Amino acid sequence: MPEQASTIAQQVDALFYYWLGITLFFTVLIVAAIILFVVKYRRRAPGEIPRPIFGSMKLETIWIVIPFLIAMSLFVWGAKVYFAQYRIPKDALDIYVVGKQWMWKMQHPTGQREINELHVPMGRKIRLTMTTEDVIHSFYIPDFRVKMDVVPGRYTQMWFEATKPGRYHLFCAEYCGMNHSRMTGTVIVMRPDEYQAWLSGNTSQLSPAQQGEQLFQTLGCTTCHLNGGRDAGGRGPQLAGIFGKPVQLEGGQTVVADENYLRESILNPSAKIVAGYSAIMPTYQGQVSEEQLLQLIAYIKSLSPQSGNAAMTSAN
Ligand code: CUA
Repeated sequence: MPEQASTIAQQVDALFYYWLGITLFFTVLIVAAIILFVVKYRRRAPGEIPRPIFGSMKLETIWIVIPFLIAMSLFVWGAKVYFAQYRIPKDALDIYVVGKQWMWKMQHPTGQREINELHVPMGRKIRLTMTTEDVIHSFYIPDFRVKMDVVPGRYTQMWFEATKPGRYHLFCAEYCGMNHSRMTGTVIVMRPDEYQAWLSGNTSQLSPAQQGEQLFQTLGCTTCHLNGGRDAGGRGPQLAGIFGKPVQLEGGQTVVADENYLRESILNPSAKIVAGYSAIMPTYQGQVSEEQLLQLIAYIKSLSPQSGNAAMTSAN
């Protein structure tokens, strides 16, 4: 097995070994029973007719109840590990990932960019928000036991907490064309002080939220979203405080303003019109790159005081 270098790794491995043990036990049992029965119940004389069997309530109860209990134990244990992995913690460090044939582009909350390398502090929850510029890829770190598809046109999220400093393989685990096998990288886990030093080695960078704010100005969003989206009363809705909250739409529906909703609202504004506003916002499809979209979203998130990102931004 690969090294166990994240908080989830032991849980995943324990479940895997349990599953493997059950599978091996029943494989051996069934093969042994087949061999035994072939020998024991072979035809001994031509024209021999075996004694009929009329069933056994006891035997049938046993082979229904025991497999049922085993299946339920796998289900309950599997669901426990699944939820531990796929419920994204709120208090995590946000890192953005954009996949592209055939490389991984990362951006840290402080603005640092990396290609095919990801530096993270150990002992800290890391949340990755990921998308791709072209086809489906899959972000896979075997030593952390985490893998998540990276899908064009939407965001997927994944989290991990590394437990040991070191260098770990990063793979693309979804066939994505000619150089799929070379779409690899390295995750570098550092002690928190080393990570801080690594971050401060590059201080001229703007954070994703700050870059998003600049884009917000240059794209002309402030014409309708007043004061950088902080104020209400413009032709477009107020954006401050919107992230993670329900938004009332025309026609009575509500939708939670998460990353995927904000993305759709920028690229295809008329898909979900906010109640009280007509569809006058132009589309920005083709005008902003995937990385710029993530920066705009980081900016809108930073306008919400309860978001973890805002604290990061103001601290820098
Ligand atoms: Cu990207 Cu395979």
